[in-house]
Amino acid sequence: MSAAFLPFARPVIDEAMVAAVADTLRSRWIASGPQVAAFEAALSAYAGGRPVRSFTSATGAMSVALELLGVGPGDEVVTPAQSFFASANVIERAGARAVFVDVELATRNIDLAQAAAAVTPRTKALLPVHYNAPLDPAALAAFRARHGVRVLEDAALAIGSVAGGRPVGATGDLVSFSFHPNKNMTTIEGGALVLNDAAEAARAERLRFHGIARLPDGTRDLEMAGGKYNLSDVSARLGLAQLARLGEWCAARERLAMAYFEGLAGDELLGPERLPPRENPGHSWNMFTVLLPLAEMALTRQAFIEAMRREGIGVGISYEAIHLTTCYRARGWREGQFPVSERIGRETVSLPLFPEMTPADVERVCAALRRLVRSRGA
Ligand SMILES: Cc1ncc(COP(=O)(O)O)c(C=O)c1O
Repeated sequence: MSAAFLPFARPVIDEAMVAAVADTLRSRWIASGPQVAAFEAALSAYAGGRPVRSFTSATGAMSVALELLGVGPGDEVVTPAQSFFASANVIERAGARAVFVDVELATRNIDLAQAAAAVTPRTKALLPVHYNAPLDPAALAAFRARHGVRVLEDAALAIGSVAGGRPVGATGDLVSFSFHPNKNMTTIEGGALVLNDAAEAARAERLRFHGIARLPDGTRDLEMAGGKYNLSDVSARLGLAQLARLGEWCAARERLAMAYFEGLAGDELLGPERLPPRENPGHSWNMFTVLLPLAEMALTRQAFIEAMRREGIGVGISYEAIHLTTCYRARGWREGQFPVSERIGRETVSLPLFPEMTPADVERVCAALRRLVRSRGA
């Protein structure tokens, strides 16, 4: 008898959340309203009292953040070549140029020495990504001061991470989160942006809703041509219930990650350099990524993923190297420029990791992984 299919990510949705969302639907106030205000207040408390505004996605939040920073044609933004495509796309869609740099192998976070070398007089901002470990807030602050650029932290994967003793989002310049269902908490689709002060927050609010400003005579004015990125109350109500359990879920993720390390310990084909850093204080463990030893394997990565699926185990790829996509090759980026990002792009797989998994699930994944990296045929 085969075990139930184990996806590589799955949100926790309990009956209390279903009831809370149903209550919001019954209230008939389902677009942005009191639940959005309550969710933003809770996120702000989480982020050490800094202003937070919610969005329909992290991509929307980052687009508005770049608009806030005045990033546009002629500007450059330095960002890692290893991330989800959104990190680079928001820069290019603002009319600016994404300037890629490589990442460090262990953390998969941006190599700040390379980022410093990539700064030019046109550089407006740094857009680093919290990936397999929280970014160091002191290093980001030093980069900002030294190079006179703004910093937009892409913390899509890092809600629940703690860095320098504070939650990611409680420090720094602008910080964006994603609440996609694969993240540590979800609003179905959704995102948030942490801002510095009330003036920035007010501008972000306008940019997310057409640029509309309310006049004293009850009519509306437009200060700019804004977008449409406001979260619904239905999503915000789910987000509120999810945020209340974030700490518990991050602790469960950490326990499961440690079970992976135990389950893979001593495997000479899957040594520590192929795994995320184990000593990783404050990490929210959104993913457990492994670099496959493809040179030693008979299976290609695709065949490995298909074989895992046949075993009832879902495996993801996070992420392809962005600069090698057709879109960015057409902008002049080439193979060989960012060897670490390219290696990760070729070898990486994300194993199942979500709070409702059991240690037995982890054992099952480890057994299949150990076996398939040694399999002699497809
Ligand atoms: C690193 C990173 N940045 C940005 C995003 C975009 O998030 P959203 O889907 O909420 O726009 C993602 C989503 O997977 C991500 O992983």
